[in-house]
Amino acid sequence: EAASKEGFDHFMLKEIYQQPEAIQHTIERRLDDEGYIQLDDIQLSKLELNAIRKVYIVACGTAYHAGLVGKHILEKALQVDVNAEIGSEFRYNDQFIDDKTLVIIVSQSGETADTLASLREAKSKGARILSITNVVGSSVARESDDIFYTWAGPEIAVASTKAYTTQLVAFYMLGLYFGRLKGTLSDQLYKQHLNELQSITKQVERTINNCIEPAKVIAEKIKDSHSLFYLGRGLDYTSALEASLKLKELSYIHAEAFAAGELKHGTIALIEEGTPVIAIATQTKTYDKTISNIKSVKARGAYVIGITTTDNEDIEQVCDKTIYIAKKSDLFMPILSVIAPQLIAYYTSLAKGNDVDKPRNLAKSVTVE
Ligand code: G6P
Repeated sequence: EAASKEGFDHFMLKEIYQQPEAIQHTIERRLDDEGYIQLDDIQLSKLELNAIRKVYIVACGTAYHAGLVGKHILEKALQVDVNAEIGSEFRYNDQFIDDKTLVIIVSQSGETADTLASLREAKSKGARILSITNVVGSSVARESDDIFYTWAGPEIAVASTKAYTTQLVAFYMLGLYFGRLKGTLSDQLYKQHLNELQSITKQVERTINNCIEPAKVIAEKIKDSHSLFYLGRGLDYTSALEASLKLKELSYIHAEAFAAGELKHGTIALIEEGTPVIAIATQTKTYDKTISNIKSVKARGAYVIGITTTDNEDIEQVCDKTIYIAKKSDLFMPILSVIAPQLIAYYTSLAKGNDVDKPRNLAKSVTVE
């Protein structure tokens, strides 16, 4: 086991560091000679795609958070309604599903019981099933019409890291592929987005290296806290959801994500002197609004940590500590904004003496309902 950790103390840290390579695999091996995305395991034709009226993305846990980002991406690309749903809820709801519905199943293991049951339920109603999974030959893969494999390599740590970021990559690639197939994306924009996606590998690497030391400092600061809140808007909110899940799983600290604009409708009552709040502020169109939200928690005594891009130094005026990450256009920021939270969760777990790779009460794959 020590050997397969390749010198890292834990599988989780190894897997965090493997993200640039995993992302690169997922992208590069799918580009044809002219630099266009080619998806061999997806048979959905242009005609079939044009007939799709509604898309559901169904998943559990971290994969569900990837689905929330996927919703933003695919709504732009497909120009139809896209809903992201939790597996254990979806299967018992009465969604209208027919042969004009595309159901996208996201599952690292491809074996999660609630996700698999949702797949079967949707299939029985005539939906087309496309899955995003990491495990070749998994139950989800075997029962799907179309497959996008995240070539992340085996993920051993219970807390998902590289599987999540490669699931995000899968959604960006599907968005580009479908946008081109459907004609909603110009060739110029297609190339521009693809370039942006390809250049993220280096930025992920840089962001990991830059976040290590600040994450250690923050871990010491928050390790004895009872509660911590992550804030964000839009795609920063989806990262906040994943960030708080990661912290809960690993540190056992009560962590919650709030859509920053919702604070004033109740949740701000929870802020006390010294309550740690981590604000993710990478989305340009809501940046100023997030700053106002930070000011309002700060005024109530919160200890605020900001996660933002390198061009937003003014955030230091309202935060007690700031972590800077590489900048991309808003749509691509979720890959970069989750890295600091992964490392904060890792180092907090370590500081508390918890079992990093096998947190209490959790399983890597939940095959019971
Ligand atoms: C478990 C794991 C999570 C994972 C979830 C869904 O709860 O601990 O890390 O996100 O299952 O797993 P899947 O394999 O379907 O992505």
